[in-house]
Amino acid sequence: MESLNYLIFSTLERCLSERGLILGEKSINNIIRDVKVWLKPSVEGKGIRATQDGSLTLISDKYGEPYHSLTSGAIRECLLKFIEPSQVVKKAQKGKVRIIDVGFGLGYNIAIALERIKRANPYAEVQILSFEKELPEIIPLLPEPYKGYQKLLLDGLPEFCKDGISFRLLLGDARKTIKQVSEFIADAVFHDGFSPYRNPELWTYEFLREIRLRVSLEGIWVSYTSSLAVRKALKMLGFGIATSQSVGRKKGGTVASLTLRDLLSTEELKKLSTSPYAIPFRDETLKAQPLEILINYRVNVELLKVAQGGIEPPTPRFSAGCSTN
Ligand SMILES: C[S@@+](CC[C@H](N)C(=O)[O-])C[C@H]1O[C@@H](n2cnc3c(N)ncnc32)[C@H](O)[C@@H]1O
Repeated sequence: MESLNYLIFSTLERCLSERGLILGEKSINNIIRDVKVWLKPSVEGKGIRATQDGSLTLISDKYGEPYHSLTSGAIRECLLKFIEPSQVVKKAQKGKVRIIDVGFGLGYNIAIALERIKRANPYAEVQILSFEKELPEIIPLLPEPYKGYQKLLLDGLPEFCKDGISFRLLLGDARKTIKQVSEFIADAVFHDGFSPYRNPELWTYEFLREIRLRVSLEGIWVSYTSSLAVRKALKMLGFGIATSQSVGRKKGGTVASLTLRDLLSTEELKKLSTSPYAIPFRDETLKAQPLEILINYRVNVELLKVAQGGIEPPTPRFSAGCSTN
Protein backbone atom coordinates (compact mmCIF):
# COMPACT_ATOMS: atom_id res chain seq x y z
CA MET A 1 0.00 0.00 0.00
CA GLU A 2 2.86 2.34 0.90
CA SER A 3 4.42 1.86 -2.54
CA LEU A 4 1.06 2.50 -4.28
CA ASN A 5 0.69 5.74 -2.30
CA TYR A 6 4.18 6.75 -3.31
CA LEU A 7 3.54 5.85 -6.97
CA ILE A 8 0.33 7.89 -7.05
CA PHE A 9 1.96 10.85 -5.33
CA SER A 10 5.09 10.86 -7.51
CA THR A 11 3.08 10.43 -10.72
CA LEU A 12 0.78 13.27 -9.70
CA GLU A 13 3.78 15.50 -8.98
CA ARG A 14 5.25 14.70 -12.39
CA CYS A 15 1.95 15.26 -14.24
CA LEU A 16 1.44 18.62 -12.53
CA SER A 17 4.96 19.73 -13.21
CA GLU A 18 4.74 18.74 -16.90
CA ARG A 19 1.59 20.83 -17.19
CA GLY A 20 2.97 23.72 -15.16
CA LEU A 21 0.25 23.46 -12.55
CA ILE A 22 0.37 23.90 -8.80
CA LEU A 23 -2.69 22.64 -6.92
CA GLY A 24 -3.64 23.42 -3.34
CA GLU A 25 -3.38 20.82 -0.60
CA LYS A 26 -7.10 20.15 -0.57
CA SER A 27 -7.20 19.44 -4.31
CA ILE A 28 -4.13 17.19 -4.07
CA ASN A 29 -5.78 15.21 -1.26
CA ASN A 30 -9.03 14.89 -3.25
CA ILE A 31 -7.17 13.56 -6.27
CA ILE A 32 -5.09 11.06 -4.30
CA ARG A 33 -8.14 9.85 -2.38
CA ASP A 34 -10.16 9.21 -5.58
CA VAL A 35 -7.32 7.54 -7.45
CA LYS A 36 -6.70 5.21 -4.50
CA VAL A 37 -10.38 4.24 -4.42
CA TRP A 38 -10.47 3.73 -8.19
CA LEU A 39 -7.44 1.45 -8.14
CA LYS A 40 -8.64 -0.67 -5.24
CA PRO A 41 -9.28 -4.23 -6.51
CA SER A 42 -12.98 -4.99 -6.95
CA VAL A 43 -12.26 -8.60 -6.10
CA GLU A 44 -9.35 -10.24 -4.30
CA GLY A 45 -7.38 -13.29 -5.37
CA LYS A 46 -6.78 -14.85 -8.75
CA GLY A 47 -7.66 -17.93 -10.77
CA ILE A 48 -10.90 -19.47 -11.96
CA ARG A 49 -14.20 -18.46 -10.34
CA ALA A 50 -17.85 -19.43 -10.99
CA THR A 51 -20.17 -16.60 -12.01
CA GLN A 52 -23.87 -16.09 -11.33
CA ASP A 53 -25.12 -18.11 -14.34
CA GLY A 54 -22.81 -21.04 -13.50
CA SER A 55 -20.26 -20.25 -16.25
CA LEU A 56 -16.64 -19.78 -15.23
CA THR A 57 -14.36 -16.78 -15.51
CA LEU A 58 -10.89 -15.79 -14.43
CA ILE A 59 -9.84 -13.25 -11.81
CA SER A 60 -6.96 -11.01 -12.87
CA ASP A 61 -4.78 -10.14 -9.88
CA LYS A 62 -2.94 -7.61 -12.05
CA TYR A 63 -6.10 -5.58 -12.70
CA GLY A 64 -7.88 -6.62 -9.48
CA GLU A 65 -11.04 -7.64 -11.29
CA PRO A 66 -12.69 -10.55 -13.08
CA TYR A 67 -12.69 -11.00 -16.86
CA HIS A 68 -16.51 -11.12 -16.75
CA SER A 69 -19.18 -9.95 -14.37
CA LEU A 70 -19.46 -12.32 -11.39
CA THR A 71 -22.93 -11.04 -10.48
CA SER A 72 -24.43 -11.04 -14.01
CA GLY A 73 -22.85 -14.28 -15.19
CA ALA A 74 -20.14 -14.54 -17.84
CA ILE A 75 -22.25 -16.00 -20.66
CA ARG A 76 -25.20 -13.77 -19.85
CA GLU A 77 -22.96 -10.70 -19.95
CA CYS A 78 -21.54 -11.71 -23.36
CA LEU A 79 -25.01 -12.22 -24.78
CA LEU A 80 -26.74 -9.18 -23.33
CA LYS A 81 -23.93 -6.62 -23.41
CA PHE A 82 -22.17 -7.60 -26.63
CA ILE A 83 -23.85 -10.03 -28.98
CA GLU A 84 -27.45 -8.81 -28.84
CA PRO A 85 -26.89 -5.02 -28.86
CA SER A 86 -24.30 -5.24 -31.66
CA GLN A 87 -26.84 -7.05 -33.89
CA VAL A 88 -24.12 -9.31 -35.31
CA VAL A 89 -26.56 -12.17 -35.85
CA LYS A 90 -28.95 -9.98 -37.83
CA LYS A 91 -26.06 -8.72 -39.96
CA ALA A 92 -24.74 -12.24 -40.55
CA GLN A 93 -28.18 -13.32 -41.74
CA LYS A 94 -27.58 -11.05 -44.73
CA GLY A 95 -24.39 -12.98 -45.51
CA LYS A 96 -21.37 -11.32 -43.90
CA VAL A 97 -20.28 -9.62 -40.70
CA ARG A 98 -16.95 -8.04 -39.69
CA ILE A 99 -16.10 -7.71 -36.00
CA ILE A 100 -13.39 -5.81 -34.12
CA ASP A 101 -12.82 -7.34 -30.69
CA VAL A 102 -10.87 -5.20 -28.22
CA GLY A 103 -9.65 -7.43 -25.37
CA PHE A 104 -9.89 -11.04 -26.62
CA GLY A 105 -9.26 -12.33 -23.08
CA LEU A 106 -10.72 -15.83 -22.77
CA GLY A 107 -12.33 -15.60 -26.21
CA TYR A 108 -15.83 -15.81 -24.74
CA ASN A 109 -17.41 -12.91 -26.64
CA ILE A 110 -16.14 -14.18 -29.98
CA ALA A 111 -16.88 -17.87 -29.34
CA ILE A 112 -20.44 -17.10 -28.27
CA ALA A 113 -20.93 -14.69 -31.19
CA LEU A 114 -19.72 -17.38 -33.62
CA GLU A 115 -22.07 -19.99 -32.22
CA ARG A 116 -25.06 -17.63 -32.46
CA ILE A 117 -24.13 -16.45 -35.95
CA LYS A 118 -23.52 -19.92 -37.37
CA ARG A 119 -26.69 -21.23 -35.76
CA ALA A 120 -28.66 -18.50 -37.56
CA ASN A 121 -26.76 -18.77 -40.86
CA PRO A 122 -24.28 -21.64 -41.31
CA TYR A 123 -23.06 -20.02 -44.54
CA ALA A 124 -22.33 -16.61 -43.04
CA GLU A 125 -18.90 -15.15 -43.73
CA VAL A 126 -17.41 -13.86 -40.48
CA GLN A 127 -14.26 -11.75 -40.32
CA ILE A 128 -12.81 -11.11 -36.87
CA LEU A 129 -9.94 -8.90 -35.80
CA SER A 130 -9.07 -9.31 -32.14
CA PHE A 131 -6.69 -7.30 -29.97
CA GLU A 132 -5.07 -8.69 -26.85
CA LYS A 133 -2.12 -7.50 -24.79
CA GLU A 134 -1.40 -10.74 -22.99
CA LEU A 135 -3.22 -14.07 -23.10
CA PRO A 136 -3.80 -15.61 -19.67
CA GLU A 137 -1.90 -18.80 -18.80
CA ILE A 138 -5.07 -20.71 -18.03
CA ILE A 139 -8.30 -20.25 -19.93
CA PRO A 140 -11.45 -21.87 -18.55
CA LEU A 141 -13.54 -23.53 -21.26
CA LEU A 142 -17.09 -22.53 -22.02
CA PRO A 143 -19.78 -25.21 -21.82
CA GLU A 144 -21.59 -26.53 -24.90
CA PRO A 145 -22.76 -25.26 -27.35
CA TYR A 146 -19.93 -22.67 -27.27
CA LYS A 147 -16.98 -24.90 -26.36
CA GLY A 148 -16.27 -26.04 -29.94
CA TYR A 149 -15.96 -22.45 -31.18
CA GLN A 150 -13.77 -21.43 -28.24
CA LYS A 151 -11.45 -24.39 -28.94
CA LEU A 152 -11.40 -23.50 -32.64
CA LEU A 153 -10.21 -20.01 -31.69
CA LEU A 154 -7.66 -21.09 -29.09
CA ASP A 155 -6.23 -23.86 -31.32
CA GLY A 156 -6.10 -21.50 -34.32
CA LEU A 157 -4.31 -18.60 -32.61
CA PRO A 158 -3.01 -16.21 -33.85
CA GLU A 159 -4.90 -16.59 -37.12
CA PHE A 160 -6.86 -19.02 -39.23
CA CYS A 161 -9.38 -19.23 -42.02
CA LYS A 162 -11.94 -22.04 -41.84
CA ASP A 163 -15.62 -22.70 -42.64
CA GLY A 164 -16.27 -19.08 -43.60
CA ILE A 165 -14.55 -17.74 -40.48
CA SER A 166 -11.43 -15.63 -40.83
CA PHE A 167 -9.83 -14.82 -37.51
CA ARG A 168 -6.76 -12.78 -36.66
CA LEU A 169 -5.46 -11.86 -33.23
CA LEU A 170 -2.95 -9.03 -32.85
CA LEU A 171 -0.94 -9.67 -29.71
CA GLY A 172 0.48 -6.65 -27.86
CA ASP A 173 -0.72 -3.27 -26.68
CA ALA A 174 -3.73 -2.46 -28.88
CA ARG A 175 -2.69 1.20 -28.94
CA LYS A 176 0.31 0.12 -30.99
CA THR A 177 -1.00 -2.89 -32.92
CA ILE A 178 -4.05 -1.02 -34.19
CA LYS A 179 -1.72 1.10 -36.31
CA GLN A 180 -0.89 -2.06 -38.31
CA VAL A 181 -4.52 -2.28 -39.42
CA SER A 182 -5.44 -0.11 -42.36
CA GLU A 183 -7.98 -2.08 -44.35
CA PHE A 184 -10.34 -3.64 -41.83
CA ILE A 185 -13.73 -1.91 -41.53
CA ALA A 186 -16.02 -3.33 -38.84
CA ASP A 187 -19.78 -3.74 -38.71
CA ALA A 188 -19.50 -4.29 -34.96
CA VAL A 189 -16.97 -3.52 -32.24
CA PHE A 190 -16.88 -5.45 -28.97
CA HIS A 191 -14.98 -3.04 -26.69
CA ASP A 192 -14.16 -5.13 -23.64
CA GLY A 193 -11.13 -3.89 -21.74
CA PHE A 194 -10.99 -4.09 -17.98
CA SER A 195 -12.84 -1.23 -16.29
CA PRO A 196 -11.97 2.31 -17.42
CA TYR A 197 -10.26 3.37 -14.17
CA ARG A 198 -8.03 0.27 -14.02
CA ASN A 199 -7.37 -0.04 -17.76
CA PRO A 200 -7.75 3.60 -18.96
CA GLU A 201 -5.47 3.28 -22.01
CA LEU A 202 -8.20 1.34 -23.85
CA TRP A 203 -10.85 3.99 -23.17
CA THR A 204 -9.19 7.26 -24.16
CA TYR A 205 -10.45 9.72 -26.75
CA GLU A 206 -7.36 8.97 -28.87
CA PHE A 207 -7.75 5.17 -28.82
CA LEU A 208 -11.47 5.42 -29.52
CA ARG A 209 -10.60 7.71 -32.44
CA GLU A 210 -8.45 4.88 -33.86
CA ILE A 211 -11.45 2.57 -33.51
CA ARG A 212 -13.77 5.10 -35.14
CA LEU A 213 -11.53 5.14 -38.22
CA ARG A 214 -12.19 1.40 -38.58
CA VAL A 215 -15.98 1.29 -38.12
CA SER A 216 -18.51 1.50 -40.93
CA LEU A 217 -21.09 4.27 -40.90
CA GLU A 218 -23.78 1.79 -39.86
CA GLY A 219 -21.39 -0.08 -37.55
CA ILE A 220 -22.33 -0.63 -33.90
CA TRP A 221 -19.85 -0.20 -31.04
CA VAL A 222 -20.83 -1.94 -27.80
CA SER A 223 -19.45 -2.20 -24.31
CA TYR A 224 -20.54 -3.11 -20.80
CA THR A 225 -19.49 0.27 -19.41
CA SER A 226 -21.64 3.35 -18.91
CA SER A 227 -18.64 5.46 -17.84
CA LEU A 228 -19.20 9.19 -18.36
CA ALA A 229 -15.60 9.62 -19.54
CA VAL A 230 -16.07 6.97 -22.24
CA ARG A 231 -19.48 8.25 -23.31
CA LYS A 232 -18.15 11.80 -23.57
CA ALA A 233 -15.27 10.64 -25.79
CA LEU A 234 -17.70 8.75 -28.05
CA LYS A 235 -19.91 11.81 -28.36
CA MET A 236 -16.93 14.04 -29.17
CA LEU A 237 -16.09 11.56 -31.94
CA GLY A 238 -19.53 11.94 -33.48
CA PHE A 239 -21.19 8.77 -32.18
CA GLY A 240 -24.81 8.77 -31.07
CA ILE A 241 -25.21 6.74 -27.90
CA ALA A 242 -27.80 4.65 -26.12
CA THR A 243 -27.87 2.50 -23.00
CA SER A 244 -28.01 -1.27 -23.38
CA GLN A 245 -30.08 -3.31 -20.97
CA SER A 246 -28.89 -3.85 -17.43
CA VAL A 247 -27.87 -7.35 -16.45
CA GLY A 248 -28.22 -8.64 -12.89
CA ARG A 249 -27.04 -5.97 -10.49
CA LYS A 250 -25.03 -4.21 -13.20
CA LYS A 251 -26.12 -0.96 -14.86
CA GLY A 252 -26.80 -0.92 -18.60
CA GLY A 253 -23.82 -0.68 -20.92
CA THR A 254 -23.30 1.56 -23.95
CA VAL A 255 -24.26 1.16 -27.60
CA ALA A 256 -22.83 3.70 -30.06
CA SER A 257 -23.13 4.28 -33.76
CA LEU A 258 -22.26 7.09 -36.14
CA THR A 259 -25.79 6.99 -37.56
CA LEU A 260 -27.62 6.68 -34.23
CA ARG A 261 -29.41 9.58 -32.56
CA ASP A 262 -28.74 9.84 -28.81
CA LEU A 263 -31.25 7.71 -26.96
CA LEU A 264 -30.40 8.55 -23.38
CA SER A 265 -32.69 9.44 -20.50
CA THR A 266 -32.96 13.09 -19.42
CA GLU A 267 -30.95 12.26 -16.32
CA GLU A 268 -28.19 10.58 -18.35
CA LEU A 269 -28.00 13.53 -20.75
CA LYS A 270 -27.85 15.99 -17.88
CA LYS A 271 -24.98 14.10 -16.25
CA LEU A 272 -23.13 14.00 -19.54
CA SER A 273 -23.39 17.74 -19.98
CA THR A 274 -22.86 18.90 -16.39
CA SER A 275 -20.82 16.38 -14.42
CA PRO A 276 -17.13 17.34 -14.04
CA TYR A 277 -16.40 13.62 -14.49
CA ALA A 278 -17.88 13.73 -18.02
CA ILE A 279 -14.59 14.53 -19.74
CA PRO A 280 -12.54 12.02 -21.73
CA PHE A 281 -9.39 10.21 -20.69
CA ARG A 282 -6.58 11.61 -22.83
CA ASP A 283 -3.51 9.89 -24.30
CA GLU A 284 -2.25 12.12 -27.09
CA THR A 285 0.80 9.99 -27.92
CA LEU A 286 -1.04 6.67 -27.42
CA LYS A 287 1.92 5.72 -25.25
CA ALA A 288 1.15 7.20 -21.82
CA GLN A 289 1.33 5.06 -18.70
CA PRO A 290 -2.17 4.05 -17.50
CA LEU A 291 -1.58 5.78 -14.14
CA GLU A 292 -0.61 9.01 -15.91
CA ILE A 293 -3.81 8.87 -17.98
CA LEU A 294 -5.89 8.32 -14.85
CA ILE A 295 -4.19 11.05 -12.84
CA ASN A 296 -4.34 13.61 -15.65
CA TYR A 297 -8.04 12.81 -16.00
CA ARG A 298 -8.60 13.35 -12.27
CA VAL A 299 -6.61 16.59 -12.36
CA ASN A 300 -8.87 17.81 -15.19
CA VAL A 301 -11.91 16.87 -13.13
CA GLU A 302 -10.50 18.87 -10.23
CA LEU A 303 -9.95 21.89 -12.46
CA LEU A 304 -13.57 21.72 -13.57
CA LYS A 305 -14.80 21.32 -10.02
CA VAL A 306 -12.79 24.39 -9.08
CA ALA A 307 -14.26 26.29 -12.02
CA GLN A 308 -17.72 25.30 -10.78
CA GLY A 309 -16.79 26.86 -7.42
CA GLY A 310 -16.27 25.84 -3.85
CA ILE A 311 -12.79 24.35 -3.97
CA GLU A 312 -9.53 26.19 -3.49
CA PRO A 313 -8.25 27.21 -6.93
CA PRO A 314 -5.13 25.80 -8.58
CA THR A 315 -2.30 28.15 -9.47
CA PRO A 316 -1.44 27.64 -13.11
CA ARG A 317 2.06 28.72 -14.04
CA PHE A 318 0.89 28.65 -17.62
CA SER A 319 -2.15 27.30 -19.47
CA ALA A 320 -3.10 23.80 -18.31
CA GLY A 321 -4.29 22.98 -21.83
CA CYS A 322 -6.78 20.43 -20.58
CA SER A 323 -9.71 19.54 -22.74
CA THR A 324 -13.09 20.05 -21.17
CA ASN A 325 -15.48 19.98 -24.10
C1 LIG B 1 -12.36 -7.95 -19.55
S1 LIG B 1 -11.09 -8.79 -20.33
C2 LIG B 1 -11.78 -9.30 -21.87
C3 LIG B 1 -12.69 -10.51 -21.82
C4 LIG B 1 -12.96 -11.08 -23.20
N1 LIG B 1 -13.57 -10.12 -24.08
C5 LIG B 1 -13.74 -12.36 -23.17
O1 LIG B 1 -14.86 -12.38 -23.71
O2 LIG B 1 -13.26 -13.34 -22.62
C6 LIG B 1 -10.05 -7.47 -20.85
C7 LIG B 1 -8.92 -7.87 -21.75
O3 LIG B 1 -8.26 -6.69 -22.25
C8 LIG B 1 -6.89 -6.98 -22.37
N2 LIG B 1 -6.13 -5.70 -22.42
C9 LIG B 1 -5.91 -4.82 -21.41
N3 LIG B 1 -5.15 -3.79 -21.83
C10 LIG B 1 -4.90 -4.00 -23.14
C11 LIG B 1 -4.17 -3.30 -24.13
N4 LIG B 1 -3.55 -2.14 -23.85
N5 LIG B 1 -4.11 -3.84 -25.38
C12 LIG B 1 -4.74 -5.01 -25.68
N6 LIG B 1 -5.45 -5.72 -24.78
C13 LIG B 1 -5.52 -5.24 -23.52
C14 LIG B 1 -6.60 -7.78 -21.10
O4 LIG B 1 -5.39 -8.50 -21.22
C15 LIG B 1 -7.84 -8.68 -21.02
O5 LIG B 1 -7.63 -9.89 -21.67
